[in-house]
Amino acid sequence: MTELTATAHPNIAYIKYWGNRDQELRIPANGSISMNLAALFTRTQVIFDESFEADQLILNGEPVTGAGLQRVSDFLALVRQISGMGEFARVESENNFPMGTGIASSASAFAALSLAASAAAGITLDEKDLSRLARCGSGSASRSVPGGFVEWQAGDSDANSYAYSIAPPEHWELADCVAIVSQEHKATGSVEGHAIADTSPLQAMRIEQVPSHMKSCREAIIQRDFAAFAEITEHDCNMMHAVMMTSNPSLIYWQPPTLAIMQAVHSWRKNGIPVCYTIDAGPNVHVICENSHQEQVKALLKDIPGVLKVMLSGPGGPALLIE
Ligand code: DP6
Repeated sequence: MTELTATAHPNIAYIKYWGNRDQELRIPANGSISMNLAALFTRTQVIFDESFEADQLILNGEPVTGAGLQRVSDFLALVRQISGMGEFARVESENNFPMGTGIASSASAFAALSLAASAAAGITLDEKDLSRLARCGSGSASRSVPGGFVEWQAGDSDANSYAYSIAPPEHWELADCVAIVSQEHKATGSVEGHAIADTSPLQAMRIEQVPSHMKSCREAIIQRDFAAFAEITEHDCNMMHAVMMTSNPSLIYWQPPTLAIMQAVHSWRKNGIPVCYTIDAGPNVHVICENSHQEQVKALLKDIPGVLKVMLSGPGGPALLIE
């Protein structure tokens, strides 16, 4: 019986991953850039034991069956294949943030699981191989393995599709003010969303433009140029949502408060507050600013009807094994 625990932070993508060139291996259609979120985390314990007759998953204290367990069990099968270790596992995982709301719980979940499960199975993977493994569980999880500001190079095979850090967390004191407008589980998850991305006539055009988005975003982060960062982050987000809305079936993740926040952010920026938004596959809005403005932005967000709560986070570190 070997038991290990790991933690990982979710991440917010500034340049978005949407669509796969290989759905099974999660080789993405395009590269992406993100920041880990220090205040939010998943903690996952993995125990392999020869007496277990099947894999088990306990999430926030509740046993999980069905599709959720199957996804984790398929992933554990991959860990067993890589490590040559044949035992079943019990996985116990906890998040300190709501799931299924566009805050990517799958990212921190599979990053923490990759580290805990590989270590518990007796193998030591370097950051690149851990990122590749995490990618097979959830694409964005590849980006929660390294720390700080992270780039996932799309690559074109399992070997060269992985994420690495482009700047440590202390490089830029950005704050993500996450405006929660709904805590309900989203209707269409990203697994299904990625699978239909190509049905949008806009997806091919978006993919063609991403390399230039990556360059602008990477440079803006390196130079701590907030104006340039804001422009490319909002544009890339809007492009992804345009693809989502024009897919078949059409995916509309926004709720009325989502749009109200987007418009408010524009007016705040016009009035001199350096702030921008980005939105994942859900209605909640990540409002990004430098941390000197976070309390002001939080107070402004709380005044918008429909905003249930605001969570603040700065840049977070890598996935780690804990005692
Ligand atoms: C909109 O990584 O959640 O958040 O690989 O199917 O688990 P799976 O998808 P996932 O997709 C994330 C989509 C996104 C954009 C992003 O984080 O880059």
